Amino acid sequence: MTVLLAWITIVSVSILGVFLLWSTSIGAGWQPTSRTKVRKMLEMCGVGPSDVVYDLGSGDGRIIVEAAKTYRARAVGVEADPIRVILSRFVVGTNMLKDQVRVVWGNFFHIDLSEATVVTLFLSQGANRKLKAKLLSELRPGARVVSYVWTFDGWSPTSTDSDDDISLYVVPPHERLTPDRTAATAAPHSV
Ligand SMILES: C[S@@+](CC[C@H](N)C(=O)[O-])C[C@H]1O[C@@H](n2cnc3c(N)ncnc32)[C@H](O)[C@@H]1O
Repeated sequence: MTVLLAWITIVSVSILGVFLLWSTSIGAGWQPTSRTKVRKMLEMCGVGPSDVVYDLGSGDGRIIVEAAKTYRARAVGVEADPIRVILSRFVVGTNMLKDQVRVVWGNFFHIDLSEATVVTLFLSQGANRKLKAKLLSELRPGARVVSYVWTFDGWSPTSTDSDDDISLYVVPPHERLTPDRTAATAAPHSV
């Protein structure tokens, strides 16, 4: 019995470790944004009921829950770690926000972002670098991207809160598209 319990523990911890390492390797490890900073991020974007907020790497779901509960926005979280997906879906359920909030288990680099009007990020400089072209080509002009701590090389923020380390970016107008080029294939607008 003791040996069986030991094996179950080892296997469970190993599975958790694999998912933690995986999410770290494809974007960033887990570290929550404080509640105060979550509010500041959403305030800086002027989030409201007409917004669709995507949190890329949504962790325990605190940003999407706050966006829906306090600002009445629709919200989508994308998270690679299945344990946090289960936890955040539970939090969404207990807050009775299932009609407003969705949590997707997956890699945000493979998720279509075109319906988002606001994107929130707390990742890493490398992940932001890789995400920049995707954000600029998939998001509509005027969409807001707010990033805690990490910035985007070669994209000037519209405003920054240097006390809290938050930067706000606005997607500029897309390049005019010719019939044989679609939004998905067009090079992102230089910013
Ligand atoms: C620093 S935490 C931020 C959590 C939450 N957004 C917050 O601000 O409290 C980063 C999260 O992104 C997730 N993550 C990293 N890369 C990812 C990827 N490519 N796709 C989906 N989730 C990812 C990690 O598992 C982790 O939960």
